[in-house]
Amino acid sequence: MVVRVFESPEQVSTACAMLFASQVISNPRAVLGLATGSSPIGTYQQLINWYNEDILDFSEATSFNLDEYVGIPESNECSYHCFMQNQLFHGINLKASYLPDGNSKDMRGACRNYDKAIKKAGGIDLQLLGIGRNGHIGFNEPSDAFSFGTQVVTLTPSTIDANRRFFDEHEEVPSMAISMGVGTIMASRRVVMIAMGDDKQDAVYGAVKGPVTPHLPASILQMHQDCILLCDRKAAAQL
Ligand code: GLP
Repeated sequence: MVVRVFESPEQVSTACAMLFASQVISNPRAVLGLATGSSPIGTYQQLINWYNEDILDFSEATSFNLDEYVGIPESNECSYHCFMQNQLFHGINLKASYLPDGNSKDMRGACRNYDKAIKKAGGIDLQLLGIGRNGHIGFNEPSDAFSFGTQVVTLTPSTIDANRRFFDEHEEVPSMAISMGVGTIMASRRVVMIAMGDDKQDAVYGAVKGPVTPHLPASILQMHQDCILLCDRKAAAQL
C-alpha cells in the first residue's frame, strides 16, 4: 500500500479527485467505484467543478456504489441514493450509476444481481473507499472472516453511533445495510482510500501497520497490488 500524507483534508480531496480525473481522461469508459460518508464530499465537489469547467466528461463512464442501508426508502434524505444524488450525480453527467438495492423483497437476489452487474460492466477500474472508525470498508464490519460478494450486513453499535449524526434526532438509525463484499473491493484494478481526522488514526494505523485480519477489514488492502491511501496529518498521527 502506498501512503501519502497531506497537511489538510482539502489537499486529500484534491489529490483523490485528481486520481479520478486521470482515470476518466485516460479511459472515458471507466467503471468507478464510489463511496459515501463525509470523507468523499470534497472529492465530489472538485469533480463537479472540473466538469463545470469542461475539464472532465463522464458521459461514457459508469459508477457502482459500495453500499446502501436496508429498509429506508431511496427518497429518504439519509439514504445513500439521496446522498449520491445531492453530493455528486446532480452535478456531473455519468452514463449510468448504480447502488445496491436496500429495499428488495429478495435481498439475496439483490446481492447476486449487484455482483452480476459489476461483472457485466467489466469490473471496477478505480474504487474509492473511506474507512470506518473500526476499520470497516463499505459496510464490511469487523468479523471472523472476510466477505466475498455483496451481502446484507448487521452494523456494529460503533458504526450505528457514527452514522447517527446524519439522521434527525427522532429518526431511527438503520442497523442493517447491503454492502459490496471485501472480495469485490479487492478485485478492483485500483483502490484509493481516504482518511481525515483524529478519529481515524487507530483505524489507519491498523490498516497500514497492523496484521491483515478480518477484525480490521481495511487491513486486507495491504495485499492489494495497486492501493493508495491518502490521509491528512491527523489521521496519519500514529504511522
Ligand atoms: C459509512 C460508509 C463507509 C464510510 C464510513 C466512514 O460507514 N458506509 O463507506 O467509509 O461511513 O464515513 P466518514 O467518511 O463520514 O467518516
